[in-house]
Amino acid sequence: MIYPIVAYGDPVLRRQTEEIGIDYPGLEALVEDMFQTMEEANGVGLAAPQIGLSLKLIVVDANPFAEEDPKAAGFRKALLNPEIYEEDGPTWSFNEGCLSFPGVHEDVERHARIKIRYMDMTGQWHDETHEGYVARVLQHECDHLNGKVFVDHLSSLRKTLLRRRLDNISKGAVSHDYKMKFAVKPKHR
Ligand code: NI
Repeated sequence: MIYPIVAYGDPVLRRQTEEIGIDYPGLEALVEDMFQTMEEANGVGLAAPQIGLSLKLIVVDANPFAEEDPKAAGFRKALLNPEIYEEDGPTWSFNEGCLSFPGVHEDVERHARIKIRYMDMTGQWHDETHEGYVARVLQHECDHLNGKVFVDHLSSLRKTLLRRRLDNISKGAVSHDYKMKFAVKPKHR
């Protein structure tokens, strides 16, 4: 099943999320649906709040970056209760987008390396170090679990310049080629 993706402006994107266990009802189907929803929209990551669920659950597929970054090859997984507990290395800028912000792409500075703990679908905990694009996608998705979105990382000048486009997204006045859900229903004339 393909979920509509929640657009910027919906309070669910600002909410703190709750921990999830592997006994969560329908977890397998939910994760499957999240992958499908992400792929339909050509995304590389999707966080549960983006389909309206305040849960610590993300899906990531870094394979589209494999050509530029061999470490991204084969990184396709669901992460439960992920927590980035350390970030280091030089900061680097990357032009990020987000499925909740159709048409918006902005350079965001983040640290190059992260340490992350998460649970997999079998309940097994992992403690890993990631760099490059995999780290980048995980940083972006884990932000979503803390009520944070990528534009929060921009300078106040940049945010001011984006204000109108963001307002339009929250009003549904934006074109998008995948299913979306807007907090305020677009007006039809
Ligand atoms: Ni996002």
